[in-house]
Amino acid sequence: MTDSPADHLATHLERARACDQLHLIEAADALDHDGRLTLSRSLDAVPWDDLDSLRGLIAAPVIAESSSNVQPPHSISADEASVSEARERGEALLSRGAVAVFTVAGGQGTRLGWNGPKGTFPATPITGKPLFALLAERISAAEGRYGAPVRWYIMTSIENDAQTRAFFRDNRFFGLDRSQVQFFPQGMMPAFDAASGQLLLAGPDRLALSPDGHGGSYGAMLRSGALEHMERRGVALVSYVQIDNPLVRAVDPVFLGLHADETQSSGEFSSKFVGRAHAGEKVGVFVETPEGMLVREYSDLGEAMASEVDGAGQLRWRAANIAVHALGVPFIRRIAEGGTSLLPWHLAHKRVSVWCPKQKMTIKPEAPNAIKLERFVFDALPWVSKPVLLEVQREEEFAPIKNVAGEDSAESSAKMQTSLHGDWLESAGVRVPRNSAGGIDAHIEISPKIAQWREDLDGVGLPDAIEPGGELLLN
Ligand code: UTP
Repeated sequence: MTDSPADHLATHLERARACDQLHLIEAADALDHDGRLTLSRSLDAVPWDDLDSLRGLIAAPVIAESSSNVQPPHSISADEASVSEARERGEALLSRGAVAVFTVAGGQGTRLGWNGPKGTFPATPITGKPLFALLAERISAAEGRYGAPVRWYIMTSIENDAQTRAFFRDNRFFGLDRSQVQFFPQGMMPAFDAASGQLLLAGPDRLALSPDGHGGSYGAMLRSGALEHMERRGVALVSYVQIDNPLVRAVDPVFLGLHADETQSSGEFSSKFVGRAHAGEKVGVFVETPEGMLVREYSDLGEAMASEVDGAGQLRWRAANIAVHALGVPFIRRIAEGGTSLLPWHLAHKRVSVWCPKQKMTIKPEAPNAIKLERFVFDALPWVSKPVLLEVQREEEFAPIKNVAGEDSAESSAKMQTSLHGDWLESAGVRVPRNSAGGIDAHIEISPKIAQWREDLDGVGLPDAIEPGGELLLN
Protein backbone atom coordinates (compact mmCIF):
# COMPACT_ATOMS: atom_id res chain seq x y z
CA MET A 1 0.00 0.00 0.00
CA THR A 2 1.37 3.43 -0.88
CA ASP A 3 0.97 6.30 1.57
CA SER A 4 -1.15 9.37 0.80
CA PRO A 5 0.68 12.48 -0.53
CA ALA A 6 0.16 14.20 2.82
CA ASP A 7 1.59 11.23 4.74
CA HIS A 8 4.45 11.01 2.29
CA LEU A 9 5.42 14.63 2.92
CA ALA A 10 4.95 14.17 6.65
CA THR A 11 7.40 11.26 6.57
CA HIS A 12 9.95 13.38 4.75
CA LEU A 13 9.52 16.20 7.24
CA GLU A 14 9.98 13.83 10.17
CA ARG A 15 13.25 12.71 8.64
CA ALA A 16 14.15 16.36 8.04
CA ARG A 17 13.57 17.13 11.71
CA ALA A 18 15.65 14.16 12.80
CA CYS A 19 18.45 15.29 10.48
CA ASP A 20 18.38 18.88 11.70
CA GLN A 21 16.97 20.29 8.43
CA LEU A 22 14.38 22.49 10.08
CA HIS A 23 14.38 25.03 7.24
CA LEU A 24 12.59 22.41 5.13
CA ILE A 25 9.75 22.25 7.65
CA GLU A 26 9.50 26.04 7.59
CA ALA A 27 9.47 25.93 3.77
CA ALA A 28 6.63 23.37 3.79
CA ASP A 29 4.62 25.47 6.26
CA ALA A 30 4.70 28.41 3.86
CA LEU A 31 3.30 26.41 0.91
CA ASP A 32 -0.18 25.71 -0.43
CA HIS A 33 -1.36 22.21 -1.35
CA ASP A 34 0.30 22.07 -4.79
CA GLY A 35 3.52 23.53 -3.48
CA ARG A 36 3.65 20.87 -0.76
CA LEU A 37 3.22 18.16 -3.39
CA THR A 38 6.07 19.61 -5.43
CA LEU A 39 8.29 19.86 -2.37
CA SER A 40 7.48 16.29 -1.44
CA ARG A 41 8.55 15.03 -4.88
CA SER A 42 11.76 17.00 -4.63
CA LEU A 43 12.47 15.50 -1.20
CA ASP A 44 12.26 12.01 -2.73
CA ALA A 45 15.82 12.62 -3.96
CA VAL A 46 17.21 12.95 -0.42
CA PRO A 47 19.10 9.88 0.82
CA TRP A 48 17.85 10.35 4.38
CA ASP A 49 19.54 7.24 5.73
CA ASP A 50 22.93 8.49 4.55
CA LEU A 51 22.43 12.18 5.19
CA ASP A 52 24.42 12.43 8.42
CA SER A 53 27.38 10.59 6.94
CA LEU A 54 27.25 12.72 3.79
CA ARG A 55 27.25 15.88 5.89
CA GLY A 56 30.21 14.45 7.79
CA LEU A 57 32.01 13.88 4.49
CA ILE A 58 31.33 17.46 3.43
CA ALA A 59 32.60 18.81 6.75
CA ALA A 60 35.78 16.70 6.58
CA PRO A 61 36.46 15.46 3.04
CA VAL A 62 38.58 12.33 2.74
CA ILE A 63 42.07 13.34 1.61
CA ALA A 64 43.41 11.44 -1.43
CA GLU A 65 46.01 8.80 -0.65
CA SER A 66 49.67 9.57 -1.14
CA SER A 67 51.45 8.29 -4.22
CA SER A 68 53.80 5.96 -2.33
CA ASN A 69 51.94 2.75 -3.10
CA VAL A 70 50.92 3.29 -6.69
CA GLN A 71 52.48 2.08 -9.93
CA PRO A 72 51.78 2.71 -13.58
CA PRO A 73 49.28 0.02 -14.60
CA HIS A 74 49.81 -2.88 -16.95
CA SER A 75 48.41 -2.05 -20.38
CA ILE A 76 48.37 -3.34 -23.92
CA SER A 77 48.73 -1.47 -27.18
CA ALA A 78 46.64 -2.11 -30.27
CA ASP A 79 49.59 -3.05 -32.45
CA GLU A 80 50.33 -6.19 -30.48
CA ALA A 81 49.89 -9.56 -32.16
CA SER A 82 46.62 -10.51 -30.48
CA VAL A 83 44.70 -7.86 -32.40
CA SER A 84 43.36 -10.02 -35.19
CA GLU A 85 42.26 -12.67 -32.72
CA ALA A 86 40.59 -9.99 -30.60
CA ARG A 87 38.89 -8.56 -33.66
CA GLU A 88 37.43 -11.96 -34.54
CA ARG A 89 36.17 -12.44 -31.02
CA GLY A 90 34.62 -8.96 -30.99
CA GLU A 91 33.04 -9.48 -34.39
CA ALA A 92 31.55 -12.78 -33.27
CA LEU A 93 29.93 -11.02 -30.29
CA LEU A 94 28.58 -8.29 -32.54
CA SER A 95 27.24 -10.81 -35.07
CA ARG A 96 25.14 -12.44 -32.40
CA GLY A 97 23.75 -9.15 -31.08
CA ALA A 98 25.53 -9.52 -27.74
CA VAL A 99 26.84 -5.93 -27.65
CA ALA A 100 24.95 -2.76 -26.75
CA VAL A 101 26.22 0.79 -26.79
CA PHE A 102 25.63 2.71 -23.59
CA THR A 103 25.89 6.50 -23.67
CA VAL A 104 25.92 8.64 -20.56
CA ALA A 105 24.16 11.84 -21.52
CA GLY A 106 22.71 13.03 -18.24
CA GLY A 107 25.36 15.66 -17.47
CA GLN A 108 24.55 19.36 -17.27
CA GLY A 109 27.30 20.46 -19.69
CA THR A 110 27.80 23.63 -17.68
CA ARG A 111 31.23 24.40 -19.17
CA LEU A 112 29.88 24.32 -22.72
CA GLY A 113 26.80 26.33 -21.79
CA TRP A 114 24.78 24.89 -24.70
CA ASN A 115 21.06 25.44 -24.42
CA GLY A 116 19.79 21.86 -24.61
CA PRO A 117 21.12 18.33 -24.11
CA LYS A 118 24.78 18.11 -25.08
CA GLY A 119 23.98 15.41 -27.61
CA THR A 120 22.15 18.00 -29.70
CA PHE A 121 25.32 20.10 -30.02
CA PRO A 122 26.56 20.57 -33.64
CA ALA A 123 29.94 18.86 -33.67
CA THR A 124 31.28 18.29 -37.18
CA PRO A 125 33.29 20.81 -39.21
CA ILE A 126 31.09 21.19 -42.32
CA THR A 127 27.55 20.02 -41.66
CA GLY A 128 27.49 20.66 -37.91
CA LYS A 129 26.09 17.20 -37.30
CA PRO A 130 24.87 16.74 -33.71
CA LEU A 131 26.74 14.44 -31.35
CA PHE A 132 23.74 12.10 -31.06
CA ALA A 133 23.59 11.78 -34.86
CA LEU A 134 27.26 10.81 -35.05
CA LEU A 135 26.78 8.02 -32.52
CA ALA A 136 23.66 6.86 -34.34
CA GLU A 137 25.64 6.65 -37.58
CA ARG A 138 28.35 4.59 -35.93
CA ILE A 139 25.75 2.21 -34.52
CA SER A 140 23.90 1.96 -37.79
CA ALA A 141 27.15 1.24 -39.67
CA ALA A 142 27.98 -1.54 -37.19
CA GLU A 143 24.53 -3.07 -37.58
CA GLY A 144 25.03 -3.12 -41.34
CA ARG A 145 28.49 -4.60 -41.04
CA TYR A 146 27.70 -7.35 -38.54
CA GLY A 147 24.12 -8.07 -39.58
CA ALA A 148 22.74 -7.92 -36.04
CA PRO A 149 21.16 -5.29 -33.80
CA VAL A 150 23.38 -3.10 -31.68
CA ARG A 151 21.00 -1.78 -29.07
CA TRP A 152 21.56 1.72 -27.75
CA TYR A 153 20.91 2.67 -24.13
CA ILE A 154 21.02 6.37 -23.35
CA MET A 155 21.12 7.70 -19.81
CA THR A 156 19.48 11.10 -19.49
CA SER A 157 18.59 13.12 -16.42
CA ILE A 158 15.19 14.46 -15.44
CA GLU A 159 16.48 17.85 -16.62
CA ASN A 160 17.06 16.76 -20.23
CA ASP A 161 15.09 13.54 -20.70
CA ALA A 162 12.06 15.05 -22.47
CA GLN A 163 14.22 17.21 -24.75
CA THR A 164 16.44 14.25 -25.62
CA ARG A 165 13.49 12.04 -26.53
CA ALA A 166 11.93 14.85 -28.59
CA PHE A 167 15.19 15.37 -30.47
CA PHE A 168 15.26 11.70 -31.45
CA ARG A 169 11.60 11.77 -32.48
CA ASP A 170 12.08 14.95 -34.53
CA ASN A 171 15.04 13.36 -36.31
CA ARG A 172 13.22 10.05 -36.82
CA PHE A 173 15.80 8.32 -34.64
CA PHE A 174 18.48 9.10 -37.24
CA GLY A 175 17.36 6.12 -39.25
CA LEU A 176 17.69 3.63 -36.39
CA ASP A 177 14.86 1.29 -35.50
CA ARG A 178 13.29 3.17 -32.61
CA SER A 179 12.69 0.01 -30.62
CA GLN A 180 16.48 -0.40 -30.46
CA VAL A 181 16.96 2.84 -28.52
CA GLN A 182 16.13 2.97 -24.80
CA PHE A 183 16.27 6.13 -22.72
CA PHE A 184 16.30 6.16 -18.95
CA PRO A 185 16.90 8.98 -16.47
CA GLN A 186 19.58 8.87 -13.83
CA GLY A 187 19.20 9.74 -10.17
CA MET A 188 19.48 13.20 -8.70
CA MET A 189 21.34 14.34 -5.60
CA PRO A 190 20.64 17.40 -3.46
CA ALA A 191 23.23 20.15 -3.20
CA PHE A 192 24.51 21.09 0.25
CA ASP A 193 25.42 24.50 1.62
CA ALA A 194 29.22 24.47 1.71
CA ALA A 195 29.41 26.29 5.05
CA SER A 196 26.61 24.69 7.07
CA GLY A 197 26.07 21.36 5.30
CA GLN A 198 22.30 22.10 5.12
CA LEU A 199 20.29 20.97 2.10
CA LEU A 200 19.81 23.90 -0.27
CA LEU A 201 16.48 25.09 -1.64
CA ALA A 202 16.45 26.30 -5.26
CA GLY A 203 12.90 27.63 -4.97
CA PRO A 204 10.16 27.89 -2.32
CA ASP A 205 8.96 24.37 -3.09
CA ARG A 206 12.03 22.54 -4.34
CA LEU A 207 15.52 21.50 -3.43
CA ALA A 208 18.57 22.35 -5.51
CA LEU A 209 19.16 19.00 -7.25
CA SER A 210 21.71 17.85 -9.80
CA PRO A 211 22.45 14.55 -11.56
CA ASP A 212 24.34 12.08 -9.37
CA GLY A 213 27.31 11.57 -11.73
CA HIS A 214 28.00 9.01 -14.43
CA GLY A 215 28.60 6.50 -11.64
CA GLY A 216 24.88 6.82 -10.99
CA SER A 217 24.44 4.76 -14.14
CA TYR A 218 24.76 1.42 -12.32
CA GLY A 219 21.81 2.15 -10.05
CA ALA A 220 19.84 3.87 -12.80
CA MET A 221 20.18 0.86 -15.11
CA LEU A 222 18.87 -1.41 -12.36
CA ARG A 223 16.00 0.86 -11.20
CA SER A 224 14.83 1.75 -14.71
CA GLY A 225 14.71 -1.86 -15.92
CA ALA A 226 17.36 -1.16 -18.59
CA LEU A 227 19.58 -3.86 -17.12
CA GLU A 228 16.84 -6.46 -17.21
CA HIS A 229 15.99 -5.31 -20.74
CA MET A 230 19.58 -6.07 -21.76
CA GLU A 231 19.62 -9.43 -20.04
CA ARG A 232 16.36 -10.53 -21.65
CA ARG A 233 17.71 -9.64 -25.08
CA GLY A 234 20.99 -11.49 -24.76
CA VAL A 235 23.22 -8.42 -24.36
CA ALA A 236 26.38 -9.70 -22.66
CA LEU A 237 28.45 -6.53 -22.61
CA VAL A 238 28.08 -2.82 -23.15
CA SER A 239 30.36 -0.42 -24.91
CA TYR A 240 30.31 2.64 -22.65
CA VAL A 241 30.86 6.05 -24.24
CA GLN A 242 30.27 9.65 -23.27
CA ILE A 243 28.28 12.02 -25.39
CA ASP A 244 31.01 14.58 -25.94
CA ASN A 245 33.60 12.94 -28.22
CA PRO A 246 32.89 13.05 -31.99
CA LEU A 247 35.76 10.64 -32.72
CA VAL A 248 34.73 7.98 -30.23
CA ARG A 249 34.70 4.48 -31.72
CA ALA A 250 31.50 3.41 -30.07
CA VAL A 251 31.62 -0.05 -31.60
CA ASP A 252 35.22 -1.25 -31.72
CA PRO A 253 35.50 -5.02 -32.29
CA VAL A 254 39.15 -5.16 -31.21
CA PHE A 255 38.49 -3.50 -27.86
CA LEU A 256 35.37 -5.58 -27.25
CA GLY A 257 37.25 -8.73 -28.22
CA LEU A 258 40.09 -7.95 -25.80
CA HIS A 259 37.55 -7.32 -23.06
CA ALA A 260 36.04 -10.74 -23.74
CA ASP A 261 39.40 -12.56 -23.86
CA GLU A 262 39.33 -14.84 -20.82
CA THR A 263 43.10 -15.29 -20.83
CA GLN A 264 43.70 -11.66 -19.91
CA SER A 265 40.37 -10.20 -18.83
CA SER A 266 37.71 -10.99 -16.28
CA GLY A 267 35.20 -9.53 -18.73
CA GLU A 268 34.03 -7.12 -16.06
CA PHE A 269 35.42 -3.67 -16.88
CA SER A 270 37.95 -2.63 -19.53
CA SER A 271 39.12 0.79 -20.60
CA LYS A 272 40.87 2.61 -23.38
CA PHE A 273 43.42 5.29 -22.68
CA VAL A 274 45.63 7.74 -24.55
CA GLY A 275 49.03 9.09 -23.55
CA ARG A 276 48.64 12.25 -21.47
CA ALA A 277 49.36 15.26 -23.71
CA HIS A 278 51.28 17.34 -21.14
CA ALA A 279 51.83 17.62 -17.42
CA GLY A 280 49.00 20.12 -17.02
CA GLU A 281 46.35 18.22 -18.97
CA LYS A 282 43.24 17.99 -16.81
CA VAL A 283 42.49 14.30 -17.16
CA GLY A 284 42.32 11.44 -14.72
CA VAL A 285 45.02 8.77 -15.02
CA PHE A 286 44.88 5.03 -14.49
CA VAL A 287 47.12 3.85 -11.65
CA GLU A 288 47.77 0.45 -10.09
CA THR A 289 47.36 0.25 -6.31
CA PRO A 290 47.49 -2.63 -3.84
CA GLU A 291 43.66 -2.57 -4.00
CA GLY A 292 43.69 -2.89 -7.79
CA MET A 293 43.53 -0.47 -10.65
CA LEU A 294 41.86 2.89 -10.28
CA VAL A 295 41.56 6.27 -11.89
CA ARG A 296 43.23 9.09 -10.01
CA GLU A 297 41.50 12.37 -10.81
CA TYR A 298 43.70 15.20 -12.04
CA SER A 299 42.83 17.26 -8.97
CA ASP A 300 44.13 14.45 -6.71
CA LEU A 301 47.31 13.84 -8.67
CA GLY A 302 49.41 16.63 -7.15
CA GLU A 303 52.01 18.60 -9.04
CA ALA A 304 54.88 16.17 -8.43
CA MET A 305 53.01 13.20 -9.85
CA ALA A 306 51.50 15.21 -12.69
CA SER A 307 54.92 16.20 -13.99
CA GLU A 308 57.02 13.16 -12.99
CA VAL A 309 58.98 11.65 -15.89
CA ASP A 310 60.43 8.16 -16.32
CA GLY A 311 63.95 7.17 -17.46
CA ALA A 312 62.98 7.80 -21.09
CA GLY A 313 61.84 11.33 -20.32
CA GLN A 314 58.15 10.40 -20.80
CA LEU A 315 55.45 11.36 -18.31
CA ARG A 316 55.40 8.49 -15.81
CA TRP A 317 51.67 8.72 -15.15
CA ARG A 318 50.56 8.80 -18.73
CA ALA A 319 47.50 6.57 -19.04
CA ALA A 320 44.84 9.26 -19.51
CA ASN A 321 41.25 8.16 -19.04
CA ILE A 322 39.17 8.97 -22.16
CA ALA A 323 36.00 7.50 -20.66
CA VAL A 324 35.64 4.65 -23.12
CA HIS A 325 34.93 1.42 -21.28
CA ALA A 326 33.51 -2.03 -21.85
CA LEU A 327 31.38 -3.47 -19.06
CA GLY A 328 30.07 -6.98 -18.63
CA VAL A 329 26.34 -7.03 -17.94
CA PRO A 330 26.67 -9.37 -14.91
CA PHE A 331 29.28 -6.96 -13.51
CA ILE A 332 26.88 -4.03 -13.88
CA ARG A 333 24.27 -6.02 -11.95
CA ARG A 334 26.77 -6.88 -9.22
CA ILE A 335 27.75 -3.25 -8.69
CA ALA A 336 24.18 -1.98 -8.96
CA GLU A 337 22.91 -4.52 -6.44
CA GLY A 338 25.85 -3.84 -4.15
CA GLY A 339 24.07 -0.57 -3.49
CA THR A 340 25.27 2.75 -2.32
CA SER A 341 28.22 1.59 -0.30
CA LEU A 342 30.40 0.34 -3.19
CA LEU A 343 31.13 3.62 -4.91
CA PRO A 344 32.44 6.69 -3.09
CA TRP A 345 31.01 10.17 -3.45
CA HIS A 346 33.12 12.91 -4.99
CA LEU A 347 32.66 16.48 -3.83
CA ALA A 348 32.59 19.46 -6.18
CA HIS A 349 32.51 23.04 -4.94
CA LYS A 350 30.07 24.86 -7.28
CA ARG A 351 27.93 27.95 -7.64
CA VAL A 352 24.29 27.03 -7.00
CA SER A 353 21.40 29.50 -7.03
CA VAL A 354 19.57 29.47 -3.71
CA TRP A 355 16.06 30.46 -2.62
CA CYS A 356 15.98 33.20 -0.01
CA PRO A 357 12.66 33.01 1.93
CA LYS A 358 13.11 36.48 3.44
CA GLN A 359 13.59 38.21 0.09
CA LYS A 360 11.27 35.76 -1.66
CA MET A 361 13.65 35.33 -4.54
CA THR A 362 16.32 33.00 -5.88
CA ILE A 363 19.81 34.43 -5.52
CA LYS A 364 22.72 33.63 -7.80
CA PRO A 365 25.93 33.57 -5.77
CA GLU A 366 29.10 35.34 -6.91
CA ALA A 367 31.36 32.54 -5.72
CA PRO A 368 31.02 28.78 -5.18
CA ASN A 369 28.63 28.32 -2.27
CA ALA A 370 27.58 24.69 -2.53
CA ILE A 371 28.82 21.14 -2.54
CA LYS A 372 27.51 18.83 -5.23
CA LEU A 373 28.03 15.10 -4.91
CA GLU A 374 28.74 12.77 -7.80
CA ARG A 375 29.70 9.15 -8.33
CA PHE A 376 32.08 8.09 -11.08
CA VAL A 377 31.64 5.01 -13.23
CA PHE A 378 35.30 4.00 -13.01
CA ASP A 379 35.18 3.85 -9.21
CA ALA A 380 33.94 0.30 -9.74
CA LEU A 381 37.47 -0.63 -10.86
CA PRO A 382 38.63 -1.89 -7.45
CA TRP A 383 35.90 -4.55 -7.74
CA VAL A 384 37.31 -5.84 -11.02
CA SER A 385 39.59 -8.84 -10.81
CA LYS A 386 41.29 -8.52 -14.21
CA PRO A 387 40.70 -5.24 -16.05
CA VAL A 388 42.05 -4.69 -19.55
CA LEU A 389 43.67 -1.36 -20.35
CA LEU A 390 44.15 -0.69 -24.04
CA GLU A 391 46.29 2.16 -25.37
CA VAL A 392 44.87 3.95 -28.42
CA GLN A 393 45.95 7.00 -30.39
CA ARG A 394 44.56 10.33 -29.30
CA GLU A 395 44.53 11.66 -32.89
CA GLU A 396 42.27 8.80 -33.93
CA GLU A 397 39.83 8.49 -31.07
CA PHE A 398 39.70 11.46 -28.76
CA ALA A 399 38.55 14.98 -29.65
CA PRO A 400 36.17 15.93 -26.81
CA ILE A 401 33.96 18.99 -26.69
CA LYS A 402 33.77 20.31 -23.13
CA ASN A 403 34.54 24.02 -23.21
CA VAL A 404 33.33 27.08 -25.09
CA ALA A 405 36.84 27.94 -26.30
CA GLY A 406 40.43 26.75 -26.17
CA GLU A 407 41.38 23.18 -25.23
CA ASP A 408 38.60 20.61 -25.66
CA SER A 409 36.29 23.05 -27.43
CA ALA A 410 34.15 22.69 -30.57
CA GLU A 411 36.93 24.45 -32.46
CA SER A 412 39.76 22.21 -31.26
CA SER A 413 37.60 19.15 -31.87
CA ALA A 414 36.74 20.21 -35.44
CA LYS A 415 40.44 20.75 -36.11
CA MET A 416 41.26 17.25 -34.88
CA GLN A 417 38.44 15.70 -36.93
CA THR A 418 39.71 17.53 -40.04
CA SER A 419 43.28 16.53 -39.36
CA LEU A 420 42.47 12.83 -38.91
CA HIS A 421 40.26 12.64 -41.95
CA GLY A 422 42.80 14.60 -44.01
CA ASP A 423 45.47 12.07 -43.01
CA TRP A 424 43.22 9.20 -44.08
CA LEU A 425 42.53 10.84 -47.44
CA GLU A 426 46.23 11.45 -48.01
CA SER A 427 47.10 7.87 -47.27
CA ALA A 428 44.34 6.85 -49.70
CA GLY A 429 46.14 8.86 -52.41
CA VAL A 430 44.23 12.18 -52.33
CA ARG A 431 46.35 15.36 -52.52
CA VAL A 432 45.32 17.32 -49.45
CA PRO A 433 46.41 20.99 -49.24
CA ARG A 434 48.45 21.99 -46.21
CA ASN A 435 49.54 25.36 -44.87
CA SER A 436 53.13 26.27 -44.02
CA ALA A 437 52.67 24.94 -40.46
CA GLY A 438 51.60 21.54 -41.81
CA GLY A 439 47.95 22.04 -40.89
CA ILE A 440 45.21 21.10 -43.34
CA ASP A 441 44.08 23.98 -45.54
CA ALA A 442 40.65 22.61 -46.45
CA HIS A 443 37.27 21.78 -44.97
CA ILE A 444 36.91 18.03 -44.63
CA GLU A 445 34.20 15.89 -43.10
CA ILE A 446 33.74 12.14 -43.34
CA SER A 447 30.60 10.59 -41.93
CA PRO A 448 31.03 7.46 -39.78
CA LYS A 449 28.60 5.84 -42.25
CA ILE A 450 31.40 6.08 -44.84
CA ALA A 451 34.48 5.44 -42.71
CA GLN A 452 35.30 4.87 -39.06
CA TRP A 453 38.76 3.46 -39.78
CA ARG A 454 41.24 4.45 -42.46
CA GLU A 455 40.74 1.11 -44.28
CA ASP A 456 37.04 1.87 -44.72
CA LEU A 457 38.02 4.37 -47.44
CA ASP A 458 39.35 1.58 -49.67
CA GLY A 459 36.92 1.26 -52.52
CA VAL A 460 35.24 4.62 -51.83
CA GLY A 461 35.26 6.96 -54.87
CA LEU A 462 37.65 9.80 -53.98
CA PRO A 463 38.91 12.85 -55.89
CA ASP A 464 42.59 13.13 -56.88
CA ALA A 465 43.00 16.34 -54.94
CA ILE A 466 41.27 18.96 -52.80
CA GLU A 467 41.85 22.61 -53.79
CA PRO A 468 43.52 24.86 -51.18
CA GLY A 469 40.71 26.21 -49.02
CA GLY A 470 38.33 23.77 -50.72
CA GLU A 471 35.87 21.32 -49.26
CA LEU A 472 35.40 17.57 -49.26
CA LEU A 473 32.29 16.15 -47.65
CA LEU A 474 31.82 12.38 -47.62
CA ASN A 475 28.42 11.96 -46.12
P1 UTP B 1 31.38 15.72 -17.66
O1 UTP B 1 32.17 15.31 -16.50
O2 UTP B 1 32.08 16.34 -18.78
O3 UTP B 1 30.20 16.65 -17.15
O4 UTP B 1 30.56 14.47 -18.16
P2 UTP B 1 29.10 17.44 -17.95
O5 UTP B 1 27.94 17.55 -17.03
O6 UTP B 1 28.82 16.88 -19.32
O7 UTP B 1 29.78 18.87 -18.19
P3 UTP B 1 30.19 19.99 -17.13
O8 UTP B 1 31.22 19.38 -16.22
O9 UTP B 1 28.94 20.41 -16.39
O10 UTP B 1 30.74 21.08 -17.99
C1 UTP B 1 31.14 13.44 -18.86
C2 UTP B 1 30.03 12.57 -19.41
O11 UTP B 1 29.27 12.01 -18.36
C3 UTP B 1 27.90 12.34 -18.51
C4 UTP B 1 27.90 13.58 -19.39
O12 UTP B 1 26.65 13.72 -20.02
C5 UTP B 1 29.05 13.29 -20.33
O13 UTP B 1 28.66 12.40 -21.36
N1 UTP B 1 27.33 12.58 -17.19
C6 UTP B 1 27.96 13.39 -16.30
C7 UTP B 1 26.14 11.99 -16.88
O14 UTP B 1 25.55 11.25 -17.71
N2 UTP B 1 25.60 12.23 -15.66
C8 UTP B 1 26.19 13.02 -14.74
O15 UTP B 1 25.64 13.19 -13.64
C9 UTP B 1 27.41 13.61 -15.07
